[in-house]
Amino acid sequence: MARPAPAPSPSRARIAAAARALRAGRLVAFPTETVYGLGADATSDAAVAAIYAAKGRPRFNPLIVHVDTLAAAERLVVFDARARRLARRFWPGPLTLVLPRRARCPVSWLASAGLDCLAVRIPDHDVARALLRAAARPVVAPSANRSGRVSPTRAEHVARDLGRRVDTILDGGASRVGVESTVVDLTGPRAVLLRPGGADPGAIEAALGARLRRPRGIATGPARGAPRAPGQLASHYAPRAAVRLGVRHPRPGEAYLGFGPMPANFAGPGATLSARRDLGEAAANLFAMLRALDRRRVTTIAVAPIPRRGLGLAINDRLARAAAPRP
Ligand code: TXA
Ligand code: MG
Repeated sequence: MARPAPAPSPSRARIAAAARALRAGRLVAFPTETVYGLGADATSDAAVAAIYAAKGRPRFNPLIVHVDTLAAAERLVVFDARARRLARRFWPGPLTLVLPRRARCPVSWLASAGLDCLAVRIPDHDVARALLRAAARPVVAPSANRSGRVSPTRAEHVARDLGRRVDTILDGGASRVGVESTVVDLTGPRAVLLRPGGADPGAIEAALGARLRRPRGIATGPARGAPRAPGQLASHYAPRAAVRLGVRHPRPGEAYLGFGPMPANFAGPGATLSARRDLGEAAANLFAMLRALDRRRVTTIAVAPIPRRGLGLAINDRLARAAAPRP
């Protein structure tokens, strides 16, 4: 079998130039293990405002602050014992912690949409960490797509969505995890799962020694046969095509996103997220395949049922939002 090509890695000079652009208030897209981020200097109101403008993102939706070390995170937010345990277990990695802002936290209030808590994480990607080190300041980075659209897992996705709106796009190849970080709110007595993502909620609960509270509208557990009411869901991660979920037999004319082997008689545009039913592989393929099928300009993308366990929770969450009624 052919070995996968090594991931492209921007030169040190290119990363240094990107860090200078960040420090000058410009926007830099960079790879992380989850998805590509659209980065800006978190301490600059103007730079953070430029993020909201470039994405067309509502100002009430706060951003994640990326740092390179736990010490840097502790300068921004207040860690308790639970937060330290999760940070030690999952960082660098696809877990975002929402914690109270410190009194002299230098991060722009725009980044947290005026809230007195802040979302932070250390990404597990060499290019991201080299950039953060060189920038030597906290960097806000939402996914580098227009608001509401499918997240980018390749540099060319960013170029297509945001090309002219960013100063630099650092290419680090395909994102390894493929779905965004798991977001856990630790500002109250009980930890709350705000967004399922790359870190398994079961592993987080094991590390905490406590159950995560799940707000209504978050798909959890192996709750087979209990689909969430799409009416509760904000449309997000949406391709141009309509999305129909839980489909074993696509209709003529539909594109099909499978899980497991493709149906033998299927002739339309389609792909399988994972022929061997591997949820990690499916997560890594999800957004790129949704984008590729959308480019075929079909009216509907039908999607196979995906198990609701491990990374399947995040995959089902993104798919449910992709299928939710559009505003
Ligand atoms: O994997 C990821 O998390 C990627 C990469 C680039 O790091 N970033 C990402 O950012 O997905 P974004 O902006 O697309 O999603 C941030 C999520 C949103 O659901 C937002 O509402 C939540 O984090 N969030 C951010 N700050 C928050 C806060 N202070 N309180 C509650 N939720 C917050
Ligand atoms: Mg996003």
